[in-house]
Amino acid sequence: MKIAVFPGDGIGGEVVDEALRVLERVGGKYGLKIETEKALVGGGAYDEYGVPLPEKSLSLAKQADAVLLGAVGGPKWEPLDYEFRPERALLGLRSELDLFANLRPAKIYPALADSSSLKREVVEGIDIMVVRELVGGIYFGRPKGVEKLADGTERGVNTLVYTTPEIERIARIAFEIAMKRGKRVCSVDKANVLECTELWRRVVTKSHAGYPEVELSHMYVDNCAMQLVRYPGQFDVIVTTNMFGDILSDISAMLTGSIGMLPSASLGATSGMYEPVHGSAPDIAGQDKANPIATILSVAMMLHYTLDAAEAARDIEQAVQKVLDAGYRTPDIAADGVKPVGTKQMGQLIVDAIET
Ligand code: IPM
Ligand code: MG
Repeated sequence: MKIAVFPGDGIGGEVVDEALRVLERVGGKYGLKIETEKALVGGGAYDEYGVPLPEKSLSLAKQADAVLLGAVGGPKWEPLDYEFRPERALLGLRSELDLFANLRPAKIYPALADSSSLKREVVEGIDIMVVRELVGGIYFGRPKGVEKLADGTERGVNTLVYTTPEIERIARIAFEIAMKRGKRVCSVDKANVLECTELWRRVVTKSHAGYPEVELSHMYVDNCAMQLVRYPGQFDVIVTTNMFGDILSDISAMLTGSIGMLPSASLGATSGMYEPVHGSAPDIAGQDKANPIATILSVAMMLHYTLDAAEAARDIEQAVQKVLDAGYRTPDIAADGVKPVGTKQMGQLIVDAIET
């Protein structure tokens, strides 16, 4: 198996290094033949090649069985035109590899229930999977752009668009995943206002016919945001559009205490990209402060979904749990009475917790 590794910007390199050490450990344990190759994407790629997603990196991603990505972006590149921004590398990889299904699990570790900004009894036991459509909707719809008008003012446009097949394929993924979990899917839309999501609701409802064991409900996005902080325990799988998924997955992540804990998988028909949900955190980059767990758990998702090595994935998840139970914490999940550690030590503790 070949893995394209894109550390990216900010803390990306630090967290990816730890994740690769964990991968090496389980790879050795289970005799997995894994080859990795690193390349630049994001701001670093722009500095070197003048574009955030160089052709070389894109073709590496296309050849590879999976992509592991750290994070991209930083204040240095914010003044650039949209097409040169680091974030374009992410969007480019998603659409070029047709990674239409973005899986963002938000699961609370009992040891961290007190790190959440919500009360322990509200967040205890939550285990939510946000299934976000990733290559369509308002992120990619046309027309888009900002134009100057004759009167000197400007007009900005983005277009929310979904076709039946695009909705069907993401709905199917959500139902398939629900079958392996709690068998409940909540489809989130704004069908009371947006015609496009009225279609979304109809197509999801129709696709549900193939999954009689799964219970399907529908919720408007504003209500869903409210329900997520009111009673998150009611959710199993949430399936939604690109932009609603962007927003709701950040809320779900924060319920678990820290966005530094949350992994993600972006799946297409033939490839997968794995990355932490968090960003490049330029304010703490290079200081050994970042939490590597989200990236380490992304490697576990990669083992599960692309490398077909469920046991190795479970090993990683259990090692993370063990280290947290033992009281070790990076600054983002610090609390009274814990053992503070940096990025590297956290990575090492997790490697050591994987029995050989
Ligand atoms: C995410 C991020 C990206 C998105 C940005 C960085 C383009 O917020 O992966 O959730 O909006 O999809
Ligand atoms: Mg986001």
